[in-house]
Amino acid sequence: MKVQRFSRIGFILAAAGSAVGLGNIWKFPYMTGEYGGGAFVLIYLITIAFIGFSVMIAEMLIGALGRADTVTSFERLAPPDKKWWKYAGFMGFNGIIIMTFYSVVIGWIFYYLFAIFGGLPATTQEAKNAFNSLIGDQVLAQIFFHTLSVIIVGFIVYRGIKGGIEKINLILMPSLMLILFGLLVYAFSLDGFSKAFAFMFEPKWEKLNSEAFIRAVGHSFFTLSLGMGAIMTYAASLPKDTSITKTAFIVTFMDTLIALVAGLVIFSFLFQFGAQPGQGPGLVFISLPTILHNFGSLGVFFALLFFLALAFAGITSAISLVEPVVQYLIDRFNFTRAKAVVVISFIYWLVGIAALLSFTNSWGKLFSMGGKPLFDILEFTTDSILLPLGGFAIVIFVGYVLPKTQVQAHLHKSGELSGKLYAIWMFSIRYIAPIALIFMMLNLMGVLKI
Ligand code: PHE
Repeated sequence: MKVQRFSRIGFILAAAGSAVGLGNIWKFPYMTGEYGGGAFVLIYLITIAFIGFSVMIAEMLIGALGRADTVTSFERLAPPDKKWWKYAGFMGFNGIIIMTFYSVVIGWIFYYLFAIFGGLPATTQEAKNAFNSLIGDQVLAQIFFHTLSVIIVGFIVYRGIKGGIEKINLILMPSLMLILFGLLVYAFSLDGFSKAFAFMFEPKWEKLNSEAFIRAVGHSFFTLSLGMGAIMTYAASLPKDTSITKTAFIVTFMDTLIALVAGLVIFSFLFQFGAQPGQGPGLVFISLPTILHNFGSLGVFFALLFFLALAFAGITSAISLVEPVVQYLIDRFNFTRAKAVVVISFIYWLVGIAALLSFTNSWGKLFSMGGKPLFDILEFTTDSILLPLGGFAIVIFVGYVLPKTQVQAHLHKSGELSGKLYAIWMFSIRYIAPIALIFMMLNLMGVLKI
């Protein structure tokens, strides 16, 4: 089934490319802004270290042992009397649901890459109007850029692991890091930098509540691409004799570092001109362009770099969202890669259009349920329900179902996870992660009033 394998660096960059996405550069900064800075960053770091990192190892392990699409991997590894575990493999389909709105956001980024040449907005009002007019009125422009994103992503996935996914990550990931670290060096020279640093790293405990905790756990899954089989599917092509622990550590580290750097860059720019941090999802589409206006033509250059980085991050994540189902169709239904890509792309392209229409003035009502736009429903369902459920299946499977000897043997063979470290990891997989996830889901029922 799986014939192609990543090179070692190719795998690290592809997994990091999946993890580093809009979640790091768009979502993490605005969540930090909304939940008051330092305290949120701290719980985020703790959840990444104690939950996210362990689950990343577990998900990679299933892929590396199963060596196939997510459904087949679960089926192969489950004990003979528990073959129904294969249904857990359907978590791979979450990626397609995520893509319905993720691709729309990538489309907005593409639009901004062009729009900034027309000049940056001088006031927040102007920036708000521009963004609102894009998502509220410009149906054709949105469909055009969403389609462009579907085509680019589809083409890369069509080229396969070696010629497409690995290659593009080898180019885009270093470029993304170069841009972000370049912007960080510049941000360092601004007065806003020390304020940004204090905002992000000095916890204000009074801002903390259980909602911030829930959001941090949810986001740690989203940002590390866990709970939907992306990392699992990539790990099925892991090169032989690769240390899972080490690789998972590098990927988690890169993902966290990039989120922190993106936050520092954005907040340095914002604080330089006294803008407010808590502005929600519009942070990078509204506040940032307005602030960059103050830098004159240098600002246009920064905006271009920033949106390029955002586009790169989005594309490398998007391909990992599409690949699991494509792999599933190839493995289980003998689809050719081309056919699988076309079928899957068409489906999320279509639903994506419904999602983008749900924000528009003329079609919004038609594509809303209970007053909630389809876009928000899709985002909430995946982010807060499906990914945690997928994560839950992964930790239960590795913690309680897979024979311990098999888990131990592989982790010993492939790296250093033995002795005390192994015991800590197992503890996290068997107890900490499931309890945090249950706590999160219970809380959610409270939110949903179930
Ligand atoms: N990790 C990506 C981000 O931070 C999103 C993603 C989620 C990608 C799940 C793949 C799987 O944007």
